[in-house]
Amino acid sequence: MLRIVALAAATLIAQFSLSAGARAEVTVSISCSSLGIEQQLCQSGSDAWAKKTGNKVKLVATPADANERLALYQTLLAAEAKDIDVFQIDVIWPAILAPHLVDLSPIVSEQDRADHFKVLVDNDTVDGKLVAVPWFVDAGLLYYRKDLLEKYGKPVPATWSELTETAKAVMDGEAKAGNSVVQGYVWQGRAYEGLACNALEWIASYGGGGIVDGDGKVTIDNPQAAQALEMAKGWIGTISPKGVLSYAEEESRGVFQSGNAVFMRNWPYAWALANAADSPVKGKVGVAVLPKGDGSDARNAAALGGQNLAVSRYSAHPNEAADLVRYLTSAEEQKRRALEGSFNPTLRSLYTDTDTVAANPFYKDFLPIMESAVARPSTVTGRRYNQVSSAFVRTVHGALSGQGQASATLVDLDKELERLGRNGRW
Ligand code: GLC
Repeated sequence: MLRIVALAAATLIAQFSLSAGARAEVTVSISCSSLGIEQQLCQSGSDAWAKKTGNKVKLVATPADANERLALYQTLLAAEAKDIDVFQIDVIWPAILAPHLVDLSPIVSEQDRADHFKVLVDNDTVDGKLVAVPWFVDAGLLYYRKDLLEKYGKPVPATWSELTETAKAVMDGEAKAGNSVVQGYVWQGRAYEGLACNALEWIASYGGGGIVDGDGKVTIDNPQAAQALEMAKGWIGTISPKGVLSYAEEESRGVFQSGNAVFMRNWPYAWALANAADSPVKGKVGVAVLPKGDGSDARNAAALGGQNLAVSRYSAHPNEAADLVRYLTSAEEQKRRALEGSFNPTLRSLYTDTDTVAANPFYKDFLPIMESAVARPSTVTGRRYNQVSSAFVRTVHGALSGQGQASATLVDLDKELERLGRNGRW
């Protein structure tokens, strides 16, 4: 009896404290990726929210590899697991994960909604629901060694042919001087989503389109696409190490940042790290748009990437989870991340903010890069995007590894994608 009374009293006290405004503390778990310092920045941002609201956060580490992260998320969400409340999701996943995510429209203010890049808000809107809020935006960039280009009197390459020649000239010059470690060009050649981004950039830069067009038509079997792949194949073992076929973002950055490459293709996050106090190439790095292909349809093409925050439908604390998303995607927090980690804001106004531009000089050129960015065909292929990407990556990796003529493999890929897309009805 005494125990029942004590329990009842405890319940009353708990109810009182709730209604008196001292909210019950909950623990919200958030998954963040781990490219470079992503984990640290996610932790510090989430901790700041926890301190402000009196809640707790638990960071769930996930693989840096986009494909591995998606597989993990799909397993958890299919099981309706409550383990993760807030998911960091890639720009190519909203359609794939939408059925498991809550509508976050109410947490985005009118002002922020108008300030976010429209392309990102549209990308996160599935069947009229805002299934994720834009967090940072990525576009492929060309990193180069200012000191080495200067030493050899070479300009920043405007075309891939120029890049190839310059890389070779610098490598040869350095080798003569006894430094045969330096590589010409490092990029992401492993068979994963990062290769889909690199290959899309090469193909689009030759005017070879974006794999599947906006109407759902498969366009990959074309001569410019084949030419682009043959060009990249020619780099392997010449200006790029053979090992590039197993490089993801961090492996490329490792080579470039230790001073052993003239050029690197990577996302903006590599800027802050290349210029960090302990970086051997601090102050020696420049950033430019990726080169154009050759031919009359050539253009600059950066793959559009980036990440969003979403709340799981199976979360036990959807309100707190949504509030954490609101906080992390706010202008204040996006600015902190831009200053500390060169994670590019999704809010346009931060590109004219003097502090963010001083920390990231390439921000002044970023708006045109964004405008010419090439999106992967994830909206039109919807839930089938991952299959499209896997088939594309398998074909490209095979062609780069020397398995057949690129033009022949593209014929097969085209057929495979057409079957998958049911002749454009995806
Ligand atoms: C970055 C991009 C993402 C892309 C991935 C590929 O994380 O933000 O969009 O899919 O790299 O590795």
